[in-house]
Amino acid sequence: MKFTLQAEDKGSKARAGVLETAHGNIQTPIFMPVGTAGTVKAVHQHELVQDIQAQIILGNTYHLYLRPGLDVLHKAGGLHKFNNWSGPILTDSGGYQVYSLTEVRKIREEGVTFRSHIDGSKHLFTPENVMDTQRIIGADIIMAFDECTPYPCEYSYARKSLDMTHRWLKRCVDQFDSTAPLYGYEQTLFPIVQGSVYKDLREKSAEVIASFNRDGNAIGGLSVGEPAEEMYAMTEVVTNILPHDKPRYLMGVGTPINILENIALGIDMFDCVMPTRNARNGMLFTQNGIINIKNEKWKDDFSPIEAESDLLVDQIHTKAYLRHLIRSQEILGAQIASLHNLHFYLWLVKQAREKIIDGSFYDWKEKMVKVLGQRL
Ligand code: GUN
Repeated sequence: MKFTLQAEDKGSKARAGVLETAHGNIQTPIFMPVGTAGTVKAVHQHELVQDIQAQIILGNTYHLYLRPGLDVLHKAGGLHKFNNWSGPILTDSGGYQVYSLTEVRKIREEGVTFRSHIDGSKHLFTPENVMDTQRIIGADIIMAFDECTPYPCEYSYARKSLDMTHRWLKRCVDQFDSTAPLYGYEQTLFPIVQGSVYKDLREKSAEVIASFNRDGNAIGGLSVGEPAEEMYAMTEVVTNILPHDKPRYLMGVGTPINILENIALGIDMFDCVMPTRNARNGMLFTQNGIINIKNEKWKDDFSPIEAESDLLVDQIHTKAYLRHLIRSQEILGAQIASLHNLHFYLWLVKQAREKIIDGSFYDWKEKMVKVLGQRL
């Protein structure tokens, strides 16, 4: 998998690049809509392509392994064929979902045993079987199996966990490198930096991860409840060490402001459930700030959802109508709001990319950070 840097900002560490995958090129910085169970919730593949030009989507090993299961996915010829998404797919390893979604779990050197949140059945994820599972899903980018430490986290726990994540990484790499793709196209493995909010652990982890010399690298264990300033400090420590010429993916981040600040720190790829999850609750991100569409003030506001946006649903539907749909828990409300928010996130990273290329990123970012936090 090839990554080419096209421009670097002079006022920050922001970069614009292109990541070439077997399912198409990704222009970075990029936001990846989350399609946990093989679907971006409430958004059809056709809309992802036509309306918002999504360039890559995410899937979750944990969910897909439990349902529909590996048999079905293998018989289908992989997730791309199963869900008819022909662009690149990245799968998270389950190294986050087993901790956030399952109550009963045991973390051992061998791996993690957990009970399914669907039917309570017992399962074991190991670094090896999680690589095999992601090969079967057919992801273009496969994530290493890691432990995402909670926040706050004692130093001694974070250190022990990090050492185990590094040992797991070696097992992931050995398994990945000794197995072949099942569907005839290239897959690649990204390792994940951990280390909680401890600078020395993050430095050590970034050095270990860099030494594996993979096609791209990820940063995990952030946006788990720590103050934004701590997140930025950890990103900065890590991006100073990770290879300059490889894509850097910050997992599970974040708000529009978090994304801009982390682009400025040298991050190229992001994912987060926020645009879709918050959409379903009526929170809309716009170029002028945040709207809670359930608010009384939009009751008889018949202006377009977002006049500045070139998204069809933003133009043809009014705030009052979307408010009504969301308040009535109509399915169409979730569809329109999710499409709107994803369109905004993709607009934001595209703007960032253009500003990096034309040399005006830093000033634009400073201005946007002030605007995007406003409540309308
Ligand atoms: N998604 C958000 N954070 C993380 C993390 O630390 N690890 C993994 N595997 N996925 C994540």
